[in-house]
Amino acid sequence: MTAQPRDAASIPLDKIDVSDPQLYQDDTYYSYFERLRREDPVHWCPESSYGPYWAVTKYKDIMHIEVNHGIYSSDAGTGGIQIEDQPKDMVRPSFIRMDPPRHDEQRKVVSPIVAPQNLANMEATIRERTCLVLDGLPRNETFDWVERVSIELTTMMLATLFDFPWEERRKLTYWSDVAIANVNAPEAPVHSEQERFDELKKMAETMAALFNERAKGPPKFDLLSMLAHGEATREMPLLEFMGNLTLLIVGGNDTTRNSMTGGLLALSQFPEQHRKLRDDPALVTSLVPEIIRYVTPVIHMRRTAREDTELGGKEIRKGDKVVMWYVSGNRDPDAVEDPDSFIIDRPRPRQHLSFGFGIHRCVGNRLAELQLRILWEEILKRYPVIEVVGEAKRTYSNFIHGFRSMPVRIPMPN
Ligand code: HEM
Repeated sequence: MTAQPRDAASIPLDKIDVSDPQLYQDDTYYSYFERLRREDPVHWCPESSYGPYWAVTKYKDIMHIEVNHGIYSSDAGTGGIQIEDQPKDMVRPSFIRMDPPRHDEQRKVVSPIVAPQNLANMEATIRERTCLVLDGLPRNETFDWVERVSIELTTMMLATLFDFPWEERRKLTYWSDVAIANVNAPEAPVHSEQERFDELKKMAETMAALFNERAKGPPKFDLLSMLAHGEATREMPLLEFMGNLTLLIVGGNDTTRNSMTGGLLALSQFPEQHRKLRDDPALVTSLVPEIIRYVTPVIHMRRTAREDTELGGKEIRKGDKVVMWYVSGNRDPDAVEDPDSFIIDRPRPRQHLSFGFGIHRCVGNRLAELQLRILWEEILKRYPVIEVVGEAKRTYSNFIHGFRSMPVRIPMPN
């Protein structure tokens, strides 16, 4: 795919295609969405690498799709949740790629993992690990925040959620990277859908051994045990087992990881907000949702129209691919005041689309917020300054809004 111009103003409207992963790797997508929101909020893109699709860019239209799941399907069989279709013989259903009633039955099996009481039980462990990771960081030396902090902390969390063998926990990170990689990116861990499928099959083998062990034991409070004992999940076919495990690994990993990196970057780009935070650490409560809005760790979710319908004055046909661009809805000035500014004390900071909405709204949203809150509380106690000392390298993807690396330095205390 050829590089698209930085500024979308020079492109004829009907040629605007926001699916190009390069736009997100280069961080140059803003003017595209600004123009679409203003001139063509429900935009038909007749040609793209992923076929024709509707680009939905306003907050209110995205909400409309989210709450009308009877019309806008997530089902793997009708197309799933990404603009890119999975190859027909490799479709891996999971409950994010299901409509009711099966979606609801399977979601119910795992949702107790993030019940308020369980979150409260996990808080001390999360804090202890966060302190350990932060205390081990070098001073006066450049290091990669993604590797040393974001990946480390989210991998530990995943190992806990699955009760996965601790020493092997980086396998979880690897599988997560495999699952979301754009196979055309040079740095991707896999370079074809077949390779991805083969690696995820290996993941399924490892997980199946643990799953079978847990099935034999009494129910416990980890995701594998919950799936193994859940009526709607105890007998999943292989592809569905692969799909649901991938969902839970990716869900709990990349998104939170990238918020940990993107939040630090945002504070370094808005130093007056960082000062405000240092002066009043209680602002962490509203800082966290603002980070999640500002970073928007999931770029889009896709639906497929089950019937002819109308959206924003446009006629949507049965079978059309409809893509909700969260990165755009979160920057819609009709929904969020001064949306391009990072403001850590916004009045209604949780009003954003980063977790989606409706029946598929992120299961782990409170856990992600808890992890980020603890991280920032502990950073503020230790490090008044963390300097971003070089360019943050972003992921080549139109789905996960991520960072590959970000060099930082913690100055020696005076
Ligand atoms: C900042 C962190 C996170 C972000 C931005 C995020 C974002 C999302 C989004 C956009 C969806 C789809 C919503 C929709 O279609 O309406 C989703 C669903 C989901 N997320 Fe998250 N997520 C995060 C953290 C987590 C964590 C920590 C977990 C696991 C513990 C998790 C597990 C899931 C699951 C299982 C679903 C599927 C829900 C369903 O289909 O009913 N997420 N998430």
